[in-house]
Amino acid sequence: MNAPAEDALVDPRQLERCPFPMPIGWFYVDHSENLKVGEVRNVFILDQEWVLFRGEGGKVGMSDPYCPHLGAHLGHGGKVVGDNIRCTFHHWQFDSAGWCRDVPYGERTPPITKIKPILRTLPVIEKWGMIWAWYHPDGTAPLWEMPSIPELESDEYEKPRLGSWPVNTAIQEIAENGVDFAHLRFLHGNPEIPHAEWRFEDHNYYADMNHGYLVTHQSGPGLVVARFTTQGITSTMISYTQPITREKSMMRMSFTHKKYADGSPEHKVAKHLVDHMIGDAEGEQSAGFESVDFVVWNHKKYRAKPLLCDGDGPITQYRAWFRQFYPEGTDFSKI
Ligand code: FES
Ligand SMILES: [Fe+2]
Repeated sequence: MNAPAEDALVDPRQLERCPFPMPIGWFYVDHSENLKVGEVRNVFILDQEWVLFRGEGGKVGMSDPYCPHLGAHLGHGGKVVGDNIRCTFHHWQFDSAGWCRDVPYGERTPPITKIKPILRTLPVIEKWGMIWAWYHPDGTAPLWEMPSIPELESDEYEKPRLGSWPVNTAIQEIAENGVDFAHLRFLHGNPEIPHAEWRFEDHNYYADMNHGYLVTHQSGPGLVVARFTTQGITSTMISYTQPITREKSMMRMSFTHKKYADGSPEHKVAKHLVDHMIGDAEGEQSAGFESVDFVVWNHKKYRAKPLLCDGDGPITQYRAWFRQFYPEGTDFSKI
């Protein structure tokens, strides 16, 4: 049900641009090849700084920066020793699950070090040549597994083309594009508002636009797979936007299709589809997202009670579905 009109007309001066907390879910951190064995690096994502490191056995850790001992920053002077990170100040060592593994002096280490991890870390996995971290503000273990994406798992597909774009808005605002069918006609210049079917299932959102032309699957807040098919040829866009701060996100994407001989008709169709997704296709002035969506995202304010009409997509349902990705205690009246 759409909200009543009087709620929709909230004075914009009272609206926060991005009233959302950091969402719960799996998020892309970096490509695996960018973190070498023994490397320690500081990354800013999910509204805070983290220390990322790769142990000598290859395992990746992602921890809070501040040492539980006396608060030194592990990412400034910290070193990898075995699979642990060693603080530069007094050489305490921590593993990728946050357990204290060594205190190289003193007879009695604090008993808590034997009972539980004392350094906050995120569960990390490597998949598709990428590092992914599970974020939950309360430290709750992963609530779902990431799906399989054949395009990133089989050698029948081209090595993906990558793209990244900073955006001044929250991840939910970007993701809402996927259900805002009307803007495809007006902002993107599609000839018509596409016919669409959709369903929500647990942490998944599935949509089919124009009878198989664009089939999308969103898995949690941090991963969307979109497949464009024309003349029986499919090209795929995998999107894994990173929440950076409450008002900043980094869109990251991989584009690929099956391997076809260079210059073959199949290759032409597939390449055109990728160019279309990137906004690079000849003769298409506002194709893709980059030239047009940013104008809106970078400047808009979020309206928790929007003034919707019957031609709008399932925006209210999408927002209700997205709420599962916000932690307890969130002020849902604002989102
Ligand atoms: S502050 Fe890290 S070991 Fe002392
Ligand atoms: Fe868009």
